[in-house]
Amino acid sequence: MNAVNPFDLVIFGGTGDLAARKLLPAMYHRHCAGQLPEQARIIALGRKDLGREGYLDSIFDKSRALITEKYFDQAQWQAFAGRIEYLQLDAGSDTDFAGLADHLQDAPDRVRIFYLSTSPDLFAGICERLAHSKLALPNSRVVLEKPLGRDLQSADAINACVESVFNEKQIYRIDHYLGKEAVQNLMALRFGNAIFEPLWSHGKIRDVQITLAEQIGVEGRGEFYDATGTLRDMVQNHLMQLLCIVAMEPPISMDADNVRDEKLKVIRSLEPFTPASVTNNVVRGQYQSGEVKGEAVPGYREEPGIGADSCTETFVALKARINNWRWSGVPFYLRTGKRMHEHVSEVVINFYALPHAIYPASESGDGINRLYIRLQPQEAIELHLMAKQAGDRNILKQVKLDLDLTGQGERHLDAYERLLMDVVRGNQTLFVRRDELNAAWQWVEPIMQSSDTSTEAPEAYQAGTSGPAAARNLLIRDGRSWIEEY
Ligand code: BG6
Repeated sequence: MNAVNPFDLVIFGGTGDLAARKLLPAMYHRHCAGQLPEQARIIALGRKDLGREGYLDSIFDKSRALITEKYFDQAQWQAFAGRIEYLQLDAGSDTDFAGLADHLQDAPDRVRIFYLSTSPDLFAGICERLAHSKLALPNSRVVLEKPLGRDLQSADAINACVESVFNEKQIYRIDHYLGKEAVQNLMALRFGNAIFEPLWSHGKIRDVQITLAEQIGVEGRGEFYDATGTLRDMVQNHLMQLLCIVAMEPPISMDADNVRDEKLKVIRSLEPFTPASVTNNVVRGQYQSGEVKGEAVPGYREEPGIGADSCTETFVALKARINNWRWSGVPFYLRTGKRMHEHVSEVVINFYALPHAIYPASESGDGINRLYIRLQPQEAIELHLMAKQAGDRNILKQVKLDLDLTGQGERHLDAYERLLMDVVRGNQTLFVRRDELNAAWQWVEPIMQSSDTSTEAPEAYQAGTSGPAAARNLLIRDGRSWIEEY
């Protein structure tokens, strides 16, 4: 089951940023780990006439920049590069697909992985041409990058086309957040330990806060971003998946469908938004010029590719409720934004305060037990507890039980390394099923409708701050606050 069979990884969008910065470095690391069979090939596809050498030159600097010094070895890179081929291909050209078929025909029995790292508008056409050129075989798999569509309807149309060529067992809808080590650790914490389960519900947990704060702006992706916005780029997928992992019931096993069934139940239990609850419980923001990491940065509307009167959001905060037995009455506060003060991705579980305090109020901490699951910048799991301060007085202070996740000197796999190898092995556990994706689109739809039809600009926030004031008010109203101001 775990053996890695020879495979061909065919990357549509091979000249794009994702291939150079994520996919190739990920495969380089697996190559160095000795995990790739000798015959494994990577076939990058692009519209430009680069030739193999030209292609390798074009990606080298970007790929190299993403491999830390400690793990880069020129000889290993040369050996790895020996696996990479480049083919010029226009996604709309039948002749080019025939050329690809010729190229792959010497190894028809290999696992073929078609990685679609292009605009989702091209997914359906690519799949049709793969079928037409007899490239899609029973042992072929297709990987679909996010965002898959713009809404439920367009996602459904794309999925229907893809499914006319590949069956659900061959389709890998990627959300790289599911491949992050800390997310695996969150599952291990919940489902590999007995002590958390009795605490993991309403009555014990007061609220859950999930933050994905980035310092970067739109990074040369202005046109894509302006047409997409944070809701579609981060909330519908990454934030939603984290919420599912926190809130799901223990699955029967780690089998793909068992895990995905439980995640789907969470999404279906989310309280649907109405126009009124969107107004009350969702905050959209857009950054203005400011300073990040000591450097002046332009406002969103001044970035290349962005309209001067753009109303696209670069920040979203919202309050969600999960209407089921476990989570009834527990608010889930989610927020994500670009150009924020810090770069942090984390989940914070706030437990209820003591019913009755017998110690004087502490000067450090508010006496609330908290569990932090930090994904970025460093992976960490911390449990905040109160302990007695040394000395003759009975005063408490906040201490941290800190799980050392990086201590053993082992290299942690990047999300794409894990996920690509899962595709190679045929393990769909960390990939999103169609019904799950549809349910996620359905849930965000009322928010999208309200923002797509709104003529009001999102609330402005200065770059390098923790987002718009309304995001703080969302919690203040409930007598709470964000545990950390990022
Ligand atoms: C991507 C989004 O899916 O995730 C980007 O398109 C975002 O806008 C990125 O920057 C964040 O991923 P990570 O792993 O850097 O937190």
